[in-house]
Amino acid sequence: MRVIETVSQAVSACANLPRPLGLVPTMGFLHPGHISLVNRARKENASVVVTIFVNPTQFGPSEDLSAYPSDMARDLAILESKNVDLVFAPPASELYPPAMDTWVEVGAVSRRLEGVHRPGHFRGVATVVAKLFNITSPTHSYFGQKDGQQAAVVKAMVRDLNMPVHIVVSPTVRESDGLACSSRNSRLNPAERRASPVVYRTLRAAEKLWLAGETRADVLKQRMRTILNAEPLVQKIDYVSIAVGETMKELDIATSGAMLSTAVHIGNVRLIDNLILNGVCQGQRSPRSRGH
Ligand code: PAJ
Repeated sequence: MRVIETVSQAVSACANLPRPLGLVPTMGFLHPGHISLVNRARKENASVVVTIFVNPTQFGPSEDLSAYPSDMARDLAILESKNVDLVFAPPASELYPPAMDTWVEVGAVSRRLEGVHRPGHFRGVATVVAKLFNITSPTHSYFGQKDGQQAAVVKAMVRDLNMPVHIVVSPTVRESDGLACSSRNSRLNPAERRASPVVYRTLRAAEKLWLAGETRADVLKQRMRTILNAEPLVQKIDYVSIAVGETMKELDIATSGAMLSTAVHIGNVRLIDNLILNGVCQGQRSPRSRGH
C-alpha cells in the first residue's frame, strides 16, 4: 500500500492504477461505517484509493476543527489489512495553497436541512470532493447513506458538472443498539451514549407508523419530535424532516423512497441520522411495495 501526501504524486500514481478504480473519501479516524465502504470498493474494483483529509473548509467557525479526532497510524494499519492500493493523506496546504480560490456551490439541495444549520458546509464538501475526483480520477466513488444529504449533494454535483464518476451509496452501519457509527460518538459521555439510540429509535417509530398507513408528514414529524423531546439529554432538535431523497425538498405526504432524517444535540455532540422509507439502503429487510 502506497501512502502519498502530495497532489502531484497522487495524480501520477492514480493514473497508473488499473481500472475500475474505487475511491473512498474520508476524514480518517476510521470506524466500521468507513470500513464497509472500503470493503465494498475492494469487492467492486481492480484498484482502491482511500483519502484521509480533515477538510477545513467544511467546518463552520463555531465547529471545532482542531478537536476532530485522528489516529493516522491506526487508520493506515486498517487500510493495509483491507488491501487498499493507495492512501492519499495530504496536509491542508496541498489542497488549499494560498492562491486557491475556486469553489463548487451546489444549488437548492445543499441549502436545505444541514445547509440551514451549517452554512457553507456543503460548499466545502463539494469543493474538496471535486478536487479529490480530479486528483484520483476514479471510475467509482463510495459514500455512506449515513450522510444522506451529502450523498445527494455529491450526486447533484456529478450530474450537473458531467463528472465521469459513478457514485455508489452504501447502507448505514450501526452499533448493536442502533446508533449510527460516527467519529463524533467518541465525544459522548457514558450517559449521553446511553441516551443516543433515541435518534434511530425515533426514525424507526415514524417508519412503523408509516407502515401502518399514516402518510401525513406533519403527523409523522410530530411523532418524531415527541419521542425526541421525551429524552432529557436531547438538548436541541435542529430539524426533523421527511423529504425527497434527491432534492431534500419537504413532502406533505410521505411516499415510498422518501428520506426521514433528523439532527439533534445530545450534550455537546450533534448527531444526524436518516432512513429511507421502504428503502433498500437499510440492509435490514427486503423492499416492499406499498403502493403509496
Ligand atoms: P467522514 O465523516 O469521514 O465519512 C466518510 C464517508 O463515510 C462518508 O461517505 C460517510 O457518509 C461515510 N460514513 C460515515 N459514517 C457511516 C456509517 N455509520 N455507515 C456508513 N457510512 C458511513 O463525510 C466525510 O467524511 C467528508 O464530508 C468527506 C466526504 C470525506 C469530504 O471531506
